[in-house]
Amino acid sequence: MILEKYLSQKGKFLEDNVDLSAGTIAWGLRAKKRTKENKDFINATIGTATEDDGKLMVLPTLYEELRQLSGDQLLAYANMRGQFDFVQAWKRDTLKTYPAELRNRTEELSTLPVTACGGLTGGLAAMGQIFFNQGDKFLAPNSRWGNVDNVFFKNQQLTEVPYKLVDHEGNLSLADLNEKLNNSQKTEKKIGVYLNFPNNPSGISPTLSQVKELQETLEEMTIPTVLLLDDAYENYCYEDNVVDHSIFPYLVGLNENILVVKIDGASKRYCAYGARLGTMTVGFGLEKGEEEKTQVRELITKAVRTNTSSAPRGIQEALTNVLVDDKKNDQIQKEKARNLSILSKRYKLIKKLGEEQSSSILEPVKFNSGFFSYYIIKSQQSAIDISTKLMENGLGTVPFVNTSNGLNGIRVAFCSIKEERIERAVDLLYS
Ligand SMILES: Cc1ncc(COP(=O)(O)O)c(C=O)c1O
Repeated sequence: MILEKYLSQKGKFLEDNVDLSAGTIAWGLRAKKRTKENKDFINATIGTATEDDGKLMVLPTLYEELRQLSGDQLLAYANMRGQFDFVQAWKRDTLKTYPAELRNRTEELSTLPVTACGGLTGGLAAMGQIFFNQGDKFLAPNSRWGNVDNVFFKNQQLTEVPYKLVDHEGNLSLADLNEKLNNSQKTEKKIGVYLNFPNNPSGISPTLSQVKELQETLEEMTIPTVLLLDDAYENYCYEDNVVDHSIFPYLVGLNENILVVKIDGASKRYCAYGARLGTMTVGFGLEKGEEEKTQVRELITKAVRTNTSSAPRGIQEALTNVLVDDKKNDQIQKEKARNLSILSKRYKLIKKLGEEQSSSILEPVKFNSGFFSYYIIKSQQSAIDISTKLMENGLGTVPFVNTSNGLNGIRVAFCSIKEERIERAVDLLYS
């Protein structure tokens, strides 16, 4: 490294440890190249929802609103706390996804959303900074998005305590998390937990009774426990028995030791990935006064201010205009429902075809939500070898391997395969 003599310890650590492809981008690039060479190639590496013709699924009402913005609305600085009208509109937009009986209570027990910079990743990084020191123990599922490692373990240098989220039969299980939470009380003064539902890469979300199991463990916690909820894919759910919204309202008000942080944003909720708008909400174990809530919001803003200063303005303006206008809001919700229905059809088909197959190598997890299906490798083979072969044979997938915690599986992004090609994708996968 030519800058060696100038680098800080952190700079050196980043250079040596951070994986810019976060495990997925390199596979995506390979698949893209293949797609150019072979028109029959199926690229199931892309983690954004796409139309059948391969173009990004965008919400026309939002796109139109962005095009109408004035120079000021688009290019002026944004309020470092988030534009006032935007955070109010986002709050209403979030609360309405919860069961009606949980809305008031959730509002009472939490701060309003505060804007983060740089999408959800900005929110995760800011919250990591606020709550954890280098070396602090952080529970993270074995099935997780690669940038979680970059943010928490490689940049912030927290100490990983992995928990198994998916068991050998491919079911979601919170038993290991519950046990590790219980054990942490004997050795730690504070513990952090990363939770992500619908999960990337496994496509799994919990049922209400599974959330209740977690609630019971949390109610008994005797040490400060900070839960970071990465709600990137909230509401993309396809089965009646799963909790089809963030589990945030179930985790507030449990116990004074439990702090829940909800990190969400426009990236997936409004198909605005590159708009880089995320928001953060802190939920408490006990009710707090308005002054205390303001203090917490101001602290979060301090983390934003000292990092990227503020979030982009234009997307906040455009989203506010859409969300506060009944007609436009109605329209955009219809557009979202249309996209969800396309993803739901792809989900149902890939699930059904997978269930019809029998294999001594692949075990599909019981995915029920999100953008991905995921297949555990039952044999001794490495998912990397299998994904490499699949790439040669016409299907781009992403292997998720973590030797330290026994993860060895393949992710298929059904969010970006058109329905009529899913049968061929499943055939290739099981071949
Ligand atoms: C689980 C999860 N969280 C967060 C993100 C990133 O969100 P953003 O692009 O808003 O930083 C992703 C992106 O793929 C993701 O899969």
